[in-house]
Amino acid sequence: MAHQHRHQPQHTQEHIQDHAHAHAHGDIDFGTMIPMLEGQARLFAPLYADALAWLSRQQPEPGLIVDAGSGPGIISGYFAEAFPEARIVAADASAALLERARENAERLGNADRFSTVEAELPNGLGELEYPADLVWSSRVVHHVGDQRAGLIALAAVLAPGGTLAVMEGGLPERNLPRDLGFGRPGLETRMDLIEQTWFSEMRTTLPGHVRETEDWPALLTAAGLRPSGTRSFVLDLPAPLADEARAYVIGVFDRRRSMFGEELDAEDRATLDRLLDPDDKASLHHRPDVFVLAAHTLYTATKPGE
Ligand SMILES: C[S@@+](CC[C@H](N)C(=O)[O-])C[C@H]1O[C@@H](n2cnc3c(N)ncnc32)[C@H](O)[C@@H]1O
Repeated sequence: MAHQHRHQPQHTQEHIQDHAHAHAHGDIDFGTMIPMLEGQARLFAPLYADALAWLSRQQPEPGLIVDAGSGPGIISGYFAEAFPEARIVAADASAALLERARENAERLGNADRFSTVEAELPNGLGELEYPADLVWSSRVVHHVGDQRAGLIALAAVLAPGGTLAVMEGGLPERNLPRDLGFGRPGLETRMDLIEQTWFSEMRTTLPGHVRETEDWPALLTAAGLRPSGTRSFVLDLPAPLADEARAYVIGVFDRRRSMFGEELDAEDRATLDRLLDPDDKASLHHRPDVFVLAAHTLYTATKPGE
């Protein structure tokens, strides 16, 4: 069931790393993740700018853009800025995040061409005013039990000739040198392995979970679309980091500590605790060598018919 909300200015009351929340879908409360999602989307602005520039060459003048799984709508705002003539619809399963997205649209002065739809994939996005010329979905489809059905639902709202852009996968992010000067070198690689296991287990708990070969162009083809491109976009913030970027990295490591710190061996857990200790000069709070290097992959496909 999808509910569409026109933006109503009179109702403007105030609600890794995205797997930071919990151990199962039922436990993930995306609504509590507003500061993290917003901080990350802001830090990653240069990456989204590159991705949107690439997309705008495929869809130069979209009339209606859907940001599916918009979260708090920071990325919806980037679309509104990059495509000043377009209407933007933010769709999400979380009413709290959509409320925040409406506040953000208001703050940016985009409210007159912005609306929201409460919808849970893989169910449809409901009746949009028009078919969409561009549907963007970043880091959402992997939260849907049946990813193939999720893509079919996203493809269903596209106009003929419209583009679906799905951001999924890429490379594990790196924030530290291999050897930190203490502990066993290679901590981040070992945390990636644990996170992969955690992630696979999280997926099996999603409603209607189907194991799928995550060949995104093949899945987009199965959804009736024609793959039109695959490109990875990089965020490269070298050390020394500005305060916001450092705070982001501390947040990423802090969530890892609470999510799966107990699964690390004792030496790695001690290393992680040192990294998170604000009183330790070698921690993430003080060390000069912290950086952000991330690569996210965008898959695009168009709906035949034009
Ligand atoms: C990791 S956040 C990504 C937010 C934003 N797209 C970004 O890239 O920063 C995942 C978002 O997907 C939404 N979501 C998760 N499962 C969903 C589902 N089955 N249907 C619709 N939205 C869903 C969550 O509420 C959350 O806003």
